[in-house]
Amino acid sequence: MKTNKKSVPQIRAYKANEINPPIAMVTAYDAPGAHMASAAGVDIILVGDSLAMVVLGYDDTLSVTIPDMAYHTRAVSRSKPDSLIVTDMPWMSYHTGVHDAVNNAAQLIRSGAEAIKLEGGANRVDVIKALVDAEIPVMGHLGLTPQSVHAFGGFSVQAKTREAAKKLLDDALAIEEAGVFSIVLEAVPDVVAAKATELLKIPTVGIGAGPHCDGQVLVFHDLLGLTFGHKPKFVRHYGSLGELGIKGLEGYVHDVKMRSFPSPDEGYQVSQGEFDGFTFDRK
Ligand code: KIV
Repeated sequence: MKTNKKSVPQIRAYKANEINPPIAMVTAYDAPGAHMASAAGVDIILVGDSLAMVVLGYDDTLSVTIPDMAYHTRAVSRSKPDSLIVTDMPWMSYHTGVHDAVNNAAQLIRSGAEAIKLEGGANRVDVIKALVDAEIPVMGHLGLTPQSVHAFGGFSVQAKTREAAKKLLDDALAIEEAGVFSIVLEAVPDVVAAKATELLKIPTVGIGAGPHCDGQVLVFHDLLGLTFGHKPKFVRHYGSLGELGIKGLEGYVHDVKMRSFPSPDEGYQVSQGEFDGFTFDRK
């Protein structure tokens, strides 16, 4: 086992404070992305079902399946990151019963995931307990749970009323009790995320949930400027890989059109005289 490799017990025991800096988590869906995340010191790589939107071009996360998530988990896992690998259980892979959930999660673990993440609160307690009982570590996800896009009527901030905040906190305590080792809080008011973080013994990881969580998570393509549509207000750009990529590709197109690529040095030559007198005609 590599010494810098992050583990579930390490994360479970972690709470950010004056001494402990917050956990840094990012999504990745392939070997180069995972390599970059690990080299940058990311603690947790999430093979997120955001794959559907930022890589596969869907409008929501509902179209990805266990085979899709397993395929991308294998790619991430092959780069052997120091970061803990957590993979999202896609929509309908844990909604049809505990038996389906355990079998589907097992496929992700066999593909290289070291834990799985699923969305929901008290309604998922039975599934979480069964997974934990099968030795599969589970990360929870509350607030704006993108698999509920139709139930919510869109991607909107959650827990904005006292009643909804109370429900979120009840859900957080219920899934902690069921055995999750940490909880993602997405698009909830800062004050609600702060309260959850204070109440829970396990770490919270926020996305659009303010600065008081035990960690932060962003989508790789959002933070590196590789998404081209609407930018949610909680995304900060740390690079413009999309623009850089277009500039690079423009240079390539230009050089091909101008016949300046490839140069003789970028091809393979034979020794002088090798093809003297060589002819080959179409029959
Ligand atoms: O799929 C994903 O990228 C996620 C993050 C937004 C937490 O679930």
